[in-house]
Amino acid sequence: MPSLNDIRSTFLEFFQRNGHRVVESSPLVPRNDPTLMFANSGMVQFKNCFTGVETRDYTRATTAQKCVRAGGKHNDLDNVGYTARHHTFFEMLGNFSFGDYFKSDAIPYAWELLTRDFDIPKDKLLVTVYHTDDEAANIWKRVAGLPDSRIIRIPTDDNFWRMGPTGPCGPCTEIFFDHGDKIWGGPPGSADQDGDRFIEIWNLVFMQNEQFADGRLVPLPKQSIDTGMGLERIGALLQGKHDNYDTDLMRALIEASAHATSTDPDGEGKTHHRVIADHLRSTSFLIADGVMPSNEGRGYVLRRIMRRAMRHAHQLGAQDPLMHRLVPALVRQMGGAYPELTRAQALIEETLQLEETRFRQTLERGLHLLADELSRIPEGAALPGEAAFKLYDTYGFPLDLTQDALREQGRSVDTAGFDAAMAEQKAKARASWAGSGETGDAKIWFQIAEDFGPSEFLGYDTETAEGQVLALVADGAAVQTAGARVQIVVNQTPFYAESGGQVGDAGWIRTETGVAQVTDTKKAAGVVIHVAEVTEGQISQGQPAKLEVDHSRRAAIRANHSATHLLNEALRRALGDHVAQRGSLNAADRLRFDFSHAKGMTPSELAQVEAEVNAVIRQNSPVETRLMTPDDARGLGAQALFGEKYGDEVRVVSMGALAGSGKGSDGQTYSLELCGGTHVARLGEIGSFLILSESASASGIRRIEAITGEGVLRDVRANYAHLEAAAAALGAVPADLAPRIKALMAERKALQNEVAQLRREVAMGGRAEGPEAKDINGVKFIAQVLSGVSGKDLPGLIDEMKARLGSGAVLLIADTGGKPAVAAGVTGDLVARLSAVALVKAAAEAMGGKGGGGRPDMAQAGGADIALADAAIAAAEAVIGG
Ligand code: SER
Repeated sequence: MPSLNDIRSTFLEFFQRNGHRVVESSPLVPRNDPTLMFANSGMVQFKNCFTGVETRDYTRATTAQKCVRAGGKHNDLDNVGYTARHHTFFEMLGNFSFGDYFKSDAIPYAWELLTRDFDIPKDKLLVTVYHTDDEAANIWKRVAGLPDSRIIRIPTDDNFWRMGPTGPCGPCTEIFFDHGDKIWGGPPGSADQDGDRFIEIWNLVFMQNEQFADGRLVPLPKQSIDTGMGLERIGALLQGKHDNYDTDLMRALIEASAHATSTDPDGEGKTHHRVIADHLRSTSFLIADGVMPSNEGRGYVLRRIMRRAMRHAHQLGAQDPLMHRLVPALVRQMGGAYPELTRAQALIEETLQLEETRFRQTLERGLHLLADELSRIPEGAALPGEAAFKLYDTYGFPLDLTQDALREQGRSVDTAGFDAAMAEQKAKARASWAGSGETGDAKIWFQIAEDFGPSEFLGYDTETAEGQVLALVADGAAVQTAGARVQIVVNQTPFYAESGGQVGDAGWIRTETGVAQVTDTKKAAGVVIHVAEVTEGQISQGQPAKLEVDHSRRAAIRANHSATHLLNEALRRALGDHVAQRGSLNAADRLRFDFSHAKGMTPSELAQVEAEVNAVIRQNSPVETRLMTPDDARGLGAQALFGEKYGDEVRVVSMGALAGSGKGSDGQTYSLELCGGTHVARLGEIGSFLILSESASASGIRRIEAITGEGVLRDVRANYAHLEAAAAALGAVPADLAPRIKALMAERKALQNEVAQLRREVAMGGRAEGPEAKDINGVKFIAQVLSGVSGKDLPGLIDEMKARLGSGAVLLIADTGGKPAVAAGVTGDLVARLSAVALVKAAAEAMGGKGGGGRPDMAQAGGADIALADAAIAAAEAVIGG
């Protein structure tokens, strides 16, 4: 009997033999579809290959695709556990042709695989075709020899496959297996078709059209093939079972659940085991693909599935968290085909255990409340919506969990009442919401949040994604279409909104009709706001959009943010535990970190911190991110930000290993911080770390500015260039710069002294004893014309000559080559009867100048004509002579 793993391999190998590329399953979170919550069929990852937007280096492909149908349009959650063929997680086997082969090959391939490789008796098979598709019907007749009675024409959309309201589509043919008349049911298209006798096993879609939102159905550039076969169904058939849960793989999980709870896998708890087995698969694969439990979007779907399983585990009497203990069994079954499951095993176990531990704290009380409520209402009556809302709001019971619990008693929930209670709570929240106070248009974001829900952030795992434009805001008001400055809201985005010191992302948003350049990303009321300028065409509300974060900018921001965590720890280790973060900025070009520390750091402390951060970077270990309760995080020693408020769950980012002083590397984590930001995958991506400055930011708070990665290289290169330019100017090599500069400075000092000495000599008329003084009216007077000096040299020379005279007056005229300058000085003992101002004025006027001023002992003025210097001296003598 082939196992599910054998069947998967047989399928892929069959198509590989027939020229198909075996392509890996895409992640469960679609990267290329804004409207789809989870991948729900094999063709999702190839959507653009069918429409011709994308070409690959192969035209035939085959896959085993992970699919989740829970939340969104296709939601099988409610039925899981109670039916033979519903799953939240399943694998879809498919073969695809992108403009390569069409119907006449697709049908023979399918027939050959089913009847030869899988050895299914031909007379057990029948098919449906779209009612007008004679071509397909004829191929079936020719290839399979099926009589008309077993080629059923279906006129409805059941045989015209569409992936959604838009996208590639076409008529299809479905292959059914007849389980025989022991089981009730009629063939497809008959009144009894819902019975279990005829089971659809394979759908072959002949992709030939593209459906547009405006209703147009346009032929595709090339006809293509998309087929899908549920592995669990074909597995049940080939293993001679009627129920998917009886296949080897599902059975192994059910038995693991039974074993862990010491219960009978087929006894009273049968439904519980089936729910647990199915939900174990969907939750584990979702976590492996990056979804984390939360209260919104995909994370909330994950939480609903987890909690639904956890209630069933509780019903089985499990005393302790159960789900995480079953993960090894799942990894044994499926880790070979899906290595991502093995890689994420620890994360899956930890996430399941945390969720179950926390949910158990309220589960029991919630179930008591439920029993209590039920005892007060008539037998069989629906649970009032308010009670269901209380279970949701206070005890964390998703609505479908409550419905599931009631289903066992044949009861339902008043969902209208539940919705009303929810709406009332929202209205209250809205009334009390004051906004951040920063933006006058804050109310509009709250309105958008209420209309569309919070934005989903995809940017921990990807920098590109597709989203749908939900709202456009220009000048504080909602608009339908924008062509200039605008704020754009989409349902899901890889753009990080500014928070926790990390700047908002920049990048591009493109739609069919326009391109917007995003310059910043912010968040208000849970809505991510892309601050943008439409640079080409227009962007309209409702359009699908491609979002692309500026990769190199984000990479630089990531490196700076991760380096900030390392810096924080290095500072604590160098300066002491009093160091606490007081603010930070993680931009693309630098990082800034403010921390409490009373005094400036010494150069050796800075060098130590810088060296330690670089040493941890060189460990190049992976950066790990986990979700946990704030208490658990603190228990681990995570650095919590003082005064910050946290929800029930925090992201804990851990980096590097502690190379304990003398203890050797003990594998303990170097840095543990609560942080919602984006980080490098491995520390080596930071490259290097360089401190630029350390300064006071406020009293008791120091600030470090630093750079990383390429920024360090740029900075070092620029500094080398400065050094080399300086060395070249001196005709030296950089290593000799310091001694050469010292020698030059000494030489400069000596020259300055020499210049001063020469000036003095010049002023003294070239003689050491200086010019001779005249005696006028009992006053010793020296007058001199000096060349080679400027006006501003005169006061110094006047002082010197006054000192030499002891008592007397001095007049100096500087022959500057342009306008002459004049200065006069009178020694202190004479200022009562003779003013330097009067001397200088008389002299300046005699040379055609005007004005002049200063103090009685020292004054200056400007002349006009140096040729009149003798007249100036005579005028001064006349003043002294009285
Ligand atoms: N897309 C089709 C389906 O989901 C065939 O793969 O049924």
